[in-house]
Amino acid sequence: MEQERKIPAHVAIIMDGNGRWARKRGLPRTMGHAQGARVVEQILEDADHMGIRYLTVYAFSTENWTRPDAEVKALMNLLRTYMKTSLAKCAKNNVRIRVIGDKTRLDPDLQASIAHLEQETAGNTGISFQIAINYGGRDELVRACRKIAGEIADGSVSPEAVDADLIDAHLDTAGLPDPDLLIRTCGEERISNFLLWQIAYSELYFSPLAWPDFSKEELERAIDAYNHRERRYGGLVG
Ligand code: IPE
Ligand code: IPE
Ligand code: MG
Repeated sequence: MEQERKIPAHVAIIMDGNGRWARKRGLPRTMGHAQGARVVEQILEDADHMGIRYLTVYAFSTENWTRPDAEVKALMNLLRTYMKTSLAKCAKNNVRIRVIGDKTRLDPDLQASIAHLEQETAGNTGISFQIAINYGGRDELVRACRKIAGEIADGSVSPEAVDADLIDAHLDTAGLPDPDLLIRTCGEERISNFLLWQIAYSELYFSPLAWPDFSKEELERAIDAYNHRERRYGGLVG
């Protein structure tokens, strides 16, 4: 009998290739980002239907500020629109939204709509959707270290109490399971500062498709590949 297909509980995605997708069509890069934003909404719905419990997407890295001002502005405006329009959808689909990354550098109105969306969806029990904005794995670890150092300095934590669980609890992803599967699109095979701590034992899948071409079928292919992996966690299997 065929073995039942395992659905990864947590899928993380480095959505890459919006610019290349647009260039190939003679369009401005921002059109690629706009199409990419539509694809995220569709994939969230597909992931939910497939039984994925947590979906985390990389929308804007701590390094993406180095792009031209107009592109940064366009990306922030897309995120702004998303935060404003997604509440009704989340309520309907029981989606819980969280933003990971350093929100303090974002415009105050964007911070406010993120906080509103997080609060309003906090009780939702369906798929948990994390959007990484101004996120960098190193930055997240630096901020966690600062918080822990502060707690050691004020005496609430002893240096001996610092262990992997305590570090986990101080990350933006506190309370979430580590990703089982990490997907990167558009043929690039690197991590680009995403979830450095959390992907210690994630399975990696590199898709040739640019993010705006990503589809439910490609997500299915990634999950099929995941099902052919043997996760060992440093031990012996079989
Ligand atoms: C991914 O697409 C979106 C972000 C990084 C914000 P890119 O904008 O990196 O597209 P390419 O890599 O230039 O094609
Ligand atoms: C990673 O893509 C960041 C996001 C998808 C938000 P980049 O396009 O910024 O990464 P590099 O520059 O190719 O490593
Ligand atoms: Mg890129």
